[in-house]
Amino acid sequence: MASPSAAKIEAAYRDRFPTSAKLFEQGRTVFPNGVTHDSRYLKPFPVYIDRGLGSKKYDVDGHEIIDYWMGHGSLILGHSHPAIVDAVSRQVARGTHLGANHQMELEWGECVRQLMPSIERVRFTNSGTEATLMALRLARIVTGRPKILKFLGHFHGWHDWLMPAADAPYDSVAMPGVTGGVLQDLVVIPPNDLAVVAKALDEHHPACLIVEGTGGHWSLVPMRGEFLQGLRKLTAERGVLLIMDEVITGFRVSPGGSQGHYGIKPDLTTLAKILAGGLPGGAVGGRADIMNALEFDNPHGQKMRHPGTYNGNPLSAAAGIAALKLVQQGEPTRQANELGRQLRAALNSMFAQRSVDWIAYGEFSMLSVLTDYDGPRSTDDSFIPCDNRLDKLDSKRDPVLSHAFRCALLLNGVDFFGWRAMLSAAHTADDIEKTVIGFSKTIEMLRADGLVK
Ligand SMILES: Cc1ncc(COP(=O)(O)O)c(C=O)c1O
Repeated sequence: MASPSAAKIEAAYRDRFPTSAKLFEQGRTVFPNGVTHDSRYLKPFPVYIDRGLGSKKYDVDGHEIIDYWMGHGSLILGHSHPAIVDAVSRQVARGTHLGANHQMELEWGECVRQLMPSIERVRFTNSGTEATLMALRLARIVTGRPKILKFLGHFHGWHDWLMPAADAPYDSVAMPGVTGGVLQDLVVIPPNDLAVVAKALDEHHPACLIVEGTGGHWSLVPMRGEFLQGLRKLTAERGVLLIMDEVITGFRVSPGGSQGHYGIKPDLTTLAKILAGGLPGGAVGGRADIMNALEFDNPHGQKMRHPGTYNGNPLSAAAGIAALKLVQQGEPTRQANELGRQLRAALNSMFAQRSVDWIAYGEFSMLSVLTDYDGPRSTDDSFIPCDNRLDKLDSKRDPVLSHAFRCALLLNGVDFFGWRAMLSAAHTADDIEKTVIGFSKTIEMLRADGLVK
């Protein structure tokens, strides 16, 4: 028997998005796979977006789409928030690169320090990838030890040191293009077991342990407060630096990030995304006695060199200040978190009504959908399915179903981040209602193509 395919969905999709189909033909000749970020790849072709406003984006054929990518998590305020548009517009006329210190970098840095008191000193980078790279190097300089400890399924950007073991399947840490020399100094352990962490710390004496603020792939495999606090205790006892990677959770989970929510004081924090209000930007911040390894004369006797043409650039600073000032008031995070809770609950009750074996779970303003789920369910929003097992929550998905799901959802006016979603303060109760209707129709379409029971 032929394996199921998304024939009807694909035909409707080609029909609905003709200009995107045409642009992708050109895109394939310009970019590998036709895309500029692996996650944006979609079969038979991705939708090309013309503009975004609030919780919506509009494709090149003029369709309105409720957006759950939210700039890969950077847009807690939604697309084109007036405060950001205003700040960036004013700055663009005053210079995009001043090749000098400027007052806005000061204000931006002060905002970060106020929101995260563990950050005594900060240094701006251009991305989250650069930030985690810097944090590792600082840790090595300060401790004089080479090894890095990380968790399976934690993503910290795409550089050699931390990309291995970031994505399922987790049968090997080997990664094309990453040398054995690099892997020798990388120790990878499964999440959510403090005994395993203690053993790895004692065996390997790493320079640092790096952890995503709420567990792997922003709460796909959640880590909660007790575990994170356990990490703080174990690392402090052994003089190992704790790096909290708050590139996503920073300013999303709470105005003070995951560390603010759970009351943890890491040694170093990495930031990006919301930090720069939807423009490119990242940062490392933390203890002054660690950050001072960036100073020309420092007690470590070795300076970490840090160039970077666009570090602290005025446009990102302008957007970042505008975003963080609004975040500081608390309302955007509260709103996005509440809508996240509502969407999880509404999807789960629709799945039950339609007798489909899917479950939505997550925390704060982040959500994941699991298919083929036959375990216990709960109306408690803190419920984690599959006993929080990495192999169940973060396994490789069926690619045919995954592509068909996203295409069908787009046909119903919703764009999910794969099987995941990130909400913003710009989403509304009406968006949630329309999203659930879109999901329900999507399930019908997947059933019609024989992809869902
Ligand atoms: C937790 C985490 N760290 C680091 C990064 C890398 O950030 P960037 O894409 O800005 O390089 C990401 C990106 O999604 C992330 O989710």
